Amino acid sequence: MRKENVIVAPSLLAADFLHLDEEMQRLLDSGVKWLHYDVMDGHFVPNISFGAGILKKLKDNYDFYYDVHIMVSNPESSAKKLIDAGADLITFHYEATDDPIFTIEKIRSYSSDIKVGMSIKPMTSVDEVIEYLDKLDLLLVMSVEPGAGGQKFNLEALDKIEQLRSYIDENGLDCLVEVDGGINDQTGSDAVLAGADVLVSGTYIFNSLDIQESIDKLIEVDDYDENY
Ligand code: DX5
Ligand code: ZN
Repeated sequence: MRKENVIVAPSLLAADFLHLDEEMQRLLDSGVKWLHYDVMDGHFVPNISFGAGILKKLKDNYDFYYDVHIMVSNPESSAKKLIDAGADLITFHYEATDDPIFTIEKIRSYSSDIKVGMSIKPMTSVDEVIEYLDKLDLLLVMSVEPGAGGQKFNLEALDKIEQLRSYIDENGLDCLVEVDGGINDQTGSDAVLAGADVLVSGTYIFNSLDIQESIDKLIEVDDYDENY
């Protein structure tokens, strides 16, 4: 069974920056709609990635839905610049704010079109964020420690996805569940079965020769998988 409604968002972090235009064309030719754009500030996470300037260049040249994941200590000020540069969805970290409601409302105040997501690190439980789900467009479950691509998927993320899926469906909420980190053809199907709506995938997608085929494998779930 192929889950047609699952969104795959390739993570720019894993692209070949010496051939960026070819990489973006490869995604567009493969029917990719969402581009996952990781912003790191060297403070909330040790690494630094890219900011608003590069986002604007991409937005002006490639027609994606820009899924911007901000791993930064000051989410409100970063979000403003990234929205001005063309972000469609801003996902900040729950661990980066003392007041999630304030952060959500502040980001929404910058643009009537902006979608707002919140992300939780592997050590943060779903119970802590349940109360915010009705105010969010997306909840991002990190299946690795944020800050770098190419890490191994943490299986505990599957329980979190299941818990979120049940709560969202039982309460009729309009909040997507996204998972990010270590997604490949095995973990991707597991995450889809657990109830994820959006799969972020960097290393696996950009290392593949045929992106369309790799995406198909990511979202291919076997109803009779002996593991379930
Ligand atoms: C990690 C980033 C991810 C990362 C995923 O901090 O948020 O988006 O690029 O990369 P892979 O798919 O290689 O784990
Ligand atoms: Zn990310």
